[in-house]
Amino acid sequence: MSTDLTPAPTADLTAALSGTRILPVLTVPDVATAAPLAEALAAGGARCAEVTFRTPDAEKALRAIADHGGLTVGAGTVLTPEQAERAVAAGARFVLSPGFDADVVHTCRKLGVPVVPGVATATELTRALRAGLTTVKLFPAEHLGGARFIQALVAPFPQARFVPTGGVGPAHLPIYLSHPAVLAVGGSWMAAAGHLERGDYAEIRRLTAEAVERSAA
Ligand code: 3PG
Repeated sequence: MSTDLTPAPTADLTAALSGTRILPVLTVPDVATAAPLAEALAAGGARCAEVTFRTPDAEKALRAIADHGGLTVGAGTVLTPEQAERAVAAGARFVLSPGFDADVVHTCRKLGVPVVPGVATATELTRALRAGLTTVKLFPAEHLGGARFIQALVAPFPQARFVPTGGVGPAHLPIYLSHPAVLAVGGSWMAAAGHLERGDYAEIRRLTAEAVERSAA
């Protein structure tokens, strides 16, 4: 299957991500946590979230969070066209992958949802741009060199927009968010495994509000 060069439907994605510029990454262990989690994120001011396809309940959780209504929900860790189809059927409004896969990109285009492939090198970014995708997930951002790596990529690729994710925490927000090539910053720190295990929704709300506040500063 080859990737066509039709422009991707990016308008929804840009609108969702450019609001708060914060993308909570959620790995939901149990669908029962989805509603209180969505509530805490929305109360903290988040406007979108990524539900990773890493747990058996991912699809159900995505649907429950999408049904909650307060958040534009995307699917993350989408590695195959089949997962992309399931994600969109469950209510995903955008799809992210840790890497670039032409078949996933093609499927998302067919389904009419924006897709954000992961890139970690100039070669992968070239591939994404040649597929007509200017918004990419820089993954794993902190391990790659963070904002300095983005700055280095911007010289040859001024059209690229990045969603740095991977190893990012609240302390990194100011530097990423001050970079004009950064569309939004993603990460799991706002709703980490420990918070979900403990049912600590107050802390999820607090960390989300703190991130949203920093993004507005
Ligand atoms: C992802 O899938 O985007 C990452 O696992 C998130 O990275 P983090 O857990 O380091 O924030």
